[in-house]
Amino acid sequence: MSVLIKPAARAAVCIAVLATVSCRSPEGSHDNAAAIDPMGHAAVLASVCSGCHVPGGTAISDLSQFSSARLEALMLTYKNAADGTTAMHRMARGYSEAEIRTISQFIEATAP
Ligand code: HEC
Repeated sequence: MSVLIKPAARAAVCIAVLATVSCRSPEGSHDNAAAIDPMGHAAVLASVCSGCHVPGGTAISDLSQFSSARLEALMLTYKNAADGTTAMHRMARGYSEAEIRTISQFIEATAP
């Protein structure tokens, strides 16, 4: 993905990615996403999160408020809790530590 893509293509990518990525700024988050995630793998992983974690004012936290280190620590706490039964515990167990790092870095890098 190049930073030179046309607006229509950029919009298509924006729709396709549907991650925690902001689609608002033409030279903002997407260029960050392309720079850190040229293959789109991190965007796919992180797109799961945005189904529940919507930016701005829902009961579920906006993940863009966290640093990548904080996100990673929170996810690892869920992953490693022996008796955790919430949705996040179950989800976190499904990711490797490397995937959790990838997701955390992607969310930080694409935060508005
Ligand atoms: C099925 C809905 C759902 C999905 C999908 C989901 N979460 Fe969550 N998440 C929650 C709920 C509910 C909570 C608990 C309420 C809260 O802390 O916001 C939570 C809490 C969290 C927290 C702790 C927030 C805090 O304020 O301490 C983190 C970090 C988190 N989720 C990260 C993620 C990441 C990363 C993904 C994608 C891999 C993800 N979540 C996907 C529902 C979801």
